[in-house]
Formats: sequence, structure tokens, C-alpha cells
Amino acid sequence: MPALARNADGDQLLFIHDGRGELFCDFGRLDLSPGDYVMLPRGTMWRLRPETTFKILLIEATNAHYSLPDKGLLGGQAIFDPALLDLPAMDEGFRAHQAEAGDVEVHIKKRGAVSVATYPYNPLDAVGWHGDLCAVRLNVRDIRPIMSHRYHVPPSAHTTFLSDRFVVCTFAPRPFETDPGAIKIPFFHNNDDFDEVLFYHAGDFFSRDNIDAGMMTFHPSGFTHGPHPKALRNMLVQSKPATDEYAVMIDTRDPLDVAESAHRVELTGYVDSWAAS
Ligand SMILES: [Fe+2]
Repeated sequence: MPALARNADGDQLLFIHDGRGELFCDFGRLDLSPGDYVMLPRGTMWRLRPETTFKILLIEATNAHYSLPDKGLLGGQAIFDPALLDLPAMDEGFRAHQAEAGDVEVHIKKRGAVSVATYPYNPLDAVGWHGDLCAVRLNVRDIRPIMSHRYHVPPSAHTTFLSDRFVVCTFAPRPFETDPGAIKIPFFHNNDDFDEVLFYHAGDFFSRDNIDAGMMTFHPSGFTHGPHPKALRNMLVQSKPATDEYAVMIDTRDPLDVAESAHRVELTGYVDSWAAS
């Protein structure tokens, strides 16, 4: 059997950008499809069984947990109903997975280092569980975004998961503002308090030009930016009544470092993409 993963450093959030298959974990089995978020509590043992190649965004809450944001005046059912959080099932597929024979490696991550423990059996052998700690799944197509015809709703209203020093927000299709006095575009801003990362999942990305699904943008704190020139012209005309985009945004209070592997695929001309064309 393929190795299991276990992250002892913090909760993990998977975002399935592409691919289908199954997830097996301590809490049971989940079917996965594009647009799924899967939150795996710290210490959960898990593995994937892909049917097609997975492309996944993995966001680790190092030394922290994920929770749901306070919905405040909007009420507890806002943005998505908590009943839409799917739980893993201890079903026939999970029991069949338990019956698979052979040694099983568990790759355990702690303080950034990975240790390997080998079991002479499948350790995903639970038959039930109690309490409110569990892996959960939510698909972005079940999110009901907040909007206003008069007020440009700031990105914080699209927060999906909350951690100690960062938030994960989802931009889902939503109508444009229609009031003549409303600001109809995202604000130009410095994001002085947060580093911003956006992962583009699907659709037509209304504030960005030359951005395709699967790309990621990184706007460090203090970098003044707004819509790209061509996107800005299109938005002022507003030929469409609504956005048609799914994107995941990660806003972090602490500055982010870019790994060497990301440098290798960086589009270095991105910083010049606001220049008039
Ligand atoms: Fe921004």
C-alpha cells in the first residue's frame, strides 16, 4: 500500500484544483472532485487514491488550527450552511481499504522534518469515532458569496477558513454592483498589513489579464496594485452581469518566503503587467 501522511506540525487544508479520487484517513473515506476543500486536523493519518492525476493546493496552518469565521450579523448559515460540511464515511470502501494486506509506511512530519514509521498492518483501522474533531469537505460550488448592489464588499467577507495568522478566502461567481454610485471594481490598495496570495481555480478572472487556471499570484505587503489595465477597461464597461471566477486567496499577517521550486516557475515579468499596453 502507498505510504500514509501524518502532519504533526499543524492542520492541513487541501484544495483540489483538478483530479478525482478518494481520500482515506483516520475518520473514514471521502470522494474528491475539483473544487473540494478538505480540512485535515493536525495528526490525521491520510492518503489519496487518485482516479486521475490530482493537482492540489496544500495550505498548512503551522502550529495552529483552522476554524470557521464569525458570520456576525449575517447569521450562522451565511456564505455556506455548516450542514454542507461533509464528513468522511466508514463505509464499504473504507472497510475494503482496511482489509488490504502488507506493511504500511507512515511519513510523520514534525518541526519540518519527516520520520518514517512502518506498521505491519494498515493503521487506518478505526471503526468509529466520537467528538467534534474530524476531517471535513466543502466544495466551492456550495459557497453563496455575499454581495451588495451598492457597496463593494471587501475580500474579508469571502473568508472560508480562519487560522491564527492568516485567512483562506474563496472568490465565487457573484453579480457586479449595479448602483450608479457604487465602486464597481476592486480597490487599488497597498495591503500594508497582509501578504496576499491568489490561486486561480476556474473561470474568467475578472481583475487579472493573462492569468489562467492553475496560476498563482503573490502580492507582498506594501505593493500597490489593483486591476490590470485591460481588465479595468472591461470592468468599467461591464459587458457581463456577474463575475465568473473561482479563486482561493490566502492573506497572511506574516511575510511569506518564496521557495526555490516556486522561483523556477516564476513569470518574472508579472510586476510589469500593470504597464499600459
Ligand atoms: Fe490585492
